[in-house]
Amino acid sequence: MRILLLGANGQLGSDIARLWQGQPDVDLIPATRADADVTDFAAVQTLVARTEPDLVLNTTAFHNLPLCENDPATAMTVNVVGGWNVATAAREVGATIVQFSTDYVFDGNKRSPYLESDPRAALNIYGAAKIATEDTVRIANPDHLIVRVSGLYGLAGSAGKGGNFVETMLRLAREGQPIRVVADQITAPTNTAEIASALLPLLRDGLRGTVHLAADGETSWYEFARAIFALRRLTPDCQPTTTAEFGGPVRRPLYSVLGSERIPRLPHWRDGLERYLREKHGPLS
Ligand SMILES: NC(=O)c1ccc[n+]([C@@H]2O[C@H](COP(=O)([O-])OP(=O)(O)OC[C@H]3O[C@@H](n4cnc5c(N)ncnc54)[C@H](OP(=O)(O)O)[C@@H]3O)[C@@H](O)[C@H]2O)c1
Repeated sequence: MRILLLGANGQLGSDIARLWQGQPDVDLIPATRADADVTDFAAVQTLVARTEPDLVLNTTAFHNLPLCENDPATAMTVNVVGGWNVATAAREVGATIVQFSTDYVFDGNKRSPYLESDPRAALNIYGAAKIATEDTVRIANPDHLIVRVSGLYGLAGSAGKGGNFVETMLRLAREGQPIRVVADQITAPTNTAEIASALLPLLRDGLRGTVHLAADGETSWYEFARAIFALRRLTPDCQPTTTAEFGGPVRRPLYSVLGSERIPRLPHWRDGLERYLREKHGPLS
């Protein structure tokens, strides 16, 4: 399989590059914004035509939530128009488009894991943009796989958000600051390495359509923070708070766990966290 990977320096993209390069049946072509800005159709078309992939993976996104809320035009351009451009350029060379999406396409009113067939209803501009991205990708290229993921953290840290939750918690603990973390948003934080490890066999099997690929189990961000501190034997002053108390300009779903009616869930979030901490910070004592 010849695979063009867009967003190769991002959090998910860099783990895909790290774990897929050297696989015997994979010819991976990593690409970044310097190779093609996804909002520039001619640049994307030229890159895709030149590299002649069987699959194009689009991990690019504009997903800083407050920035999306303040600048909906850019949120729509990078996510929706970018998705359209990549999916269309892929179709023109007969390639499959693999587009990443989010748990934030859901409103959080459920209390059991969201399935692929559940109706979407976003609460914020980012979620709305990703719903529109999913739809434009489906229209642009019938040969598509849309992969919804949740609460990503990876070795590279999120380019768009400046780091990741795990590293932010470890930094705050090191600095000795009181830490307040929301305890009423329930999700399944997912190590991007687990997504990269599971996705390649699914692509080899020819999976298409829409699929959820997230860690098993569920937890609040507060309990997740406590698990990080426990595994690193840290004892900061960490207290739970609520979304209402925490404030902020963006409405977020209070429950956004992704289950699947199509494929097994990834390893439990605790296992993904342990793998991340070992790979980033060394053995767990
Ligand atoms: N992070 C999460 O918690 C989360 C949760 C659910 C779903 N997702 C989805 O999962 C996917 C991967 O997220 P991630 O956390 O890996 O993101 P990330 O680390 O922020 O990486 C995003 C990548 O997109 C690139 N990019 C942004 N705008 C671009 C443009 N106009 N043209 C070309 N490249 C551009 C960035 O390049 P530069 O370095 O040049 O900016 C970066 O490499 C995204 O679809 C995201 O919406 C993420």
